[in-house]
Amino acid sequence: MESKKHFRLAVIPGDGIGEEVINEGLRVIDYLSSTLNRFTFESDYFPWGCEYYLETGKMMDEDGLDKIKNHDAIYFGAVGYPTVPDHISLWGLRLAICQGFDQWANIRPVEFLPGVEGKLNHPNKEDLNWVLVRENTEGEYSGIGGRNFTGRGLGKEVAIQSSVFTEEGCERVIRHAFNVALKRKRKKVTSVTKSNAQQYGMVLWDEVFERVSKEYPEVETDKWLVDAMAAQFVLHPEELEVVVASNLHADILSDLGSALAGSLGIAPSANLHLDGRFPSMFESVHGSAPDIAGQGIANPIGTIGSAALMLEHLGLPEEAHLINDAIRATTRNGILTADIGGNNTTKEVTDSIISHISKTTRVSNRV
Ligand code: NAI
Ligand code: MG
Repeated sequence: MESKKHFRLAVIPGDGIGEEVINEGLRVIDYLSSTLNRFTFESDYFPWGCEYYLETGKMMDEDGLDKIKNHDAIYFGAVGYPTVPDHISLWGLRLAICQGFDQWANIRPVEFLPGVEGKLNHPNKEDLNWVLVRENTEGEYSGIGGRNFTGRGLGKEVAIQSSVFTEEGCERVIRHAFNVALKRKRKKVTSVTKSNAQQYGMVLWDEVFERVSKEYPEVETDKWLVDAMAAQFVLHPEELEVVVASNLHADILSDLGSALAGSLGIAPSANLHLDGRFPSMFESVHGSAPDIAGQGIANPIGTIGSAALMLEHLGLPEEAHLINDAIRATTRNGILTADIGGNNTTKEVTDSIISHISKTTRVSNRV
């Protein structure tokens, strides 16, 4: 018999609704672990985030990366609160982890859940699903630049924010997108670019896409400028399968995708380091939603779906499948938080997900 797997998770709830949704995700993982008896896990909590910053002057411990580098995965809530400037909170924690651990592929599936109205007028909405593969360490979010010339007086400051596109960085994420496409029914990769205006970085991106695509003759390809791609998301989403894009482009397109599917609250994501040196990090696409924090109404589906991506990454595809099925059963039954048109609480949605998992596992145990 296969031996039981054991995992060490670094849990970083962060700010705002981060803590509310991460606790729900952990409840689901805990339930799977205790009922199926196929894996065990331990969670180490790290209280990093904006409150921590206000107390200590740091978003995370100085040796924070060392503290979590040997964990099997990082389960992340969200970071950011109005008490701390967003660029400090994001760079001090989330981007520090993505770059520090070279989590170069950000996988963001877009799924149209049954029972969710969504914002897209499309005849076959429930058949739509695609996955965004986001370059996650460089491009527009390389963090290269500076501000200067304040000495010249008011209104004369200069800021430079450079994008960095390395051939290696483009190639590994584009190649990964092709490998993701190979596992899907329709084998197609769409490259998002802006090489008409950004004649250096994005032209390199295009050339690498062209070169890598030759190694995958069975995969259909196309290429869109990012502005036209935004329109394509709305007008012809049935044409989308695997969409690979730079850090900024995919950041924007993934919010658009999840909004079309109903809400930012339902979109999961995986920040993958695939070279075996560091852990990967799993989090919803949304932020800390300060406008609804503390009310118990945040949609936990994005974060619970991220737990499914995490379990799949840890070699537990059946568990991941159980979670995703239970999410669909829950929305199909109309158990919905306010952002997707219902009036259920965060906890009620999770309870329903757990109860569907319990029904499925009881049935399969009987067979
Ligand atoms: P946001 O994603 O937090 O919220 C945008 C809108 O979507 C809000 O109206 C919010 O209520 C709603 N929303 C988001 N998640 C929801 C959920 N699970 N259930 C129901 N409604 C939900 O984006 P916003 O407002 O631009 O940023 C808030 C803070 O989050 C900022 O400090 C920002 O820097 C940070 N942020 C952090 C991210 C991360 O940690 N990965 C990603 C995006 C933003
Ligand atoms: Mg974003």
